[in-house]
Amino acid sequence: MGLVTAAYILKHAEAGGWAVGAFNCNNMEIVQAIIRAAREEQSPVIIQASQGAIKYAGLSYIKALVLEAVRTADVPVALHLDHGTSFEQAVRCIRAGFTSVMIDGSHLSLDENIALTRRVVEVASAAGVSVEAELGRIGGTEDDISVDERDAFFTDPDEARYFVEQTGVDSLAVAIGTAHGLYKGEPKLDFERLKKIKARVPKPLVLHGSSGVPAEAVKEAVSLGIRKVNIDSDIRQAFTSTVREVLAANPHEIDPRKILGPARDAAVEVIREKIRIFGSSGKAREM
Ligand code: 13P
Repeated sequence: MGLVTAAYILKHAEAGGWAVGAFNCNNMEIVQAIIRAAREEQSPVIIQASQGAIKYAGLSYIKALVLEAVRTADVPVALHLDHGTSFEQAVRCIRAGFTSVMIDGSHLSLDENIALTRRVVEVASAAGVSVEAELGRIGGTEDDISVDERDAFFTDPDEARYFVEQTGVDSLAVAIGTAHGLYKGEPKLDFERLKKIKARVPKPLVLHGSSGVPAEAVKEAVSLGIRKVNIDSDIRQAFTSTVREVLAANPHEIDPRKILGPARDAAVEVIREKIRIFGSSGKAREM
């Protein structure tokens, strides 16, 4: 089975009321862990590469790793650019064979975000590639954010409808109280806002910053219309804490395979657990 678009997976997720995991990859072991977890769960999956991952591994390496993983995968896989920063970069990823790109204009004014997203949609749709955009600020949110700050940073439901109508995006990342990276306290998701957005936006919604969000809160968000859940930090944490444990137990170990192999196994377990929480286990068989 070759690569599919994220829109293809999201269409099935929308119809079935589940969410697909979008897992960030940074190296070969993590790509392998994502694919192994998806195959073991018989779940579709999105493998995504951030700016940092592209800088670290190189676009061509990421593409090659994912294509090799997909060659033997018996589940639908999409390759997605996470938080694309420019039109040019989105085009580079489309040319490289990505089947989905995110253009993140959330730091821009509404009109500028619409204009940039529209340009990417025009090129991507001609190439048969899906587009995710973002409205609201996810990165800067804090646990103890005030009501005024919520209105300033979180996604406005009416604006979301207007944005989707104006841009024609395939999916929309919403700011409802999650933040990238590790949380100091427990994040409080604004479910009322999510309900209002879902009632106005006829497209799949995306939850970023989902590491560290309790499973029950993620399940609630999925029941209210989240169809793609982004996970990075929880994989990193499982991976690096295993590396630390192996090195602590074997301080003289010099074989990277004996250090990174167990880390890869730990990543598989975390990803499998997430897939079960998102409700996409077994869904590859229905697609
Ligand atoms: P976490 O690192 O919190 O899982 O966020 C990942 C993400 O949203 C990538 O876009």
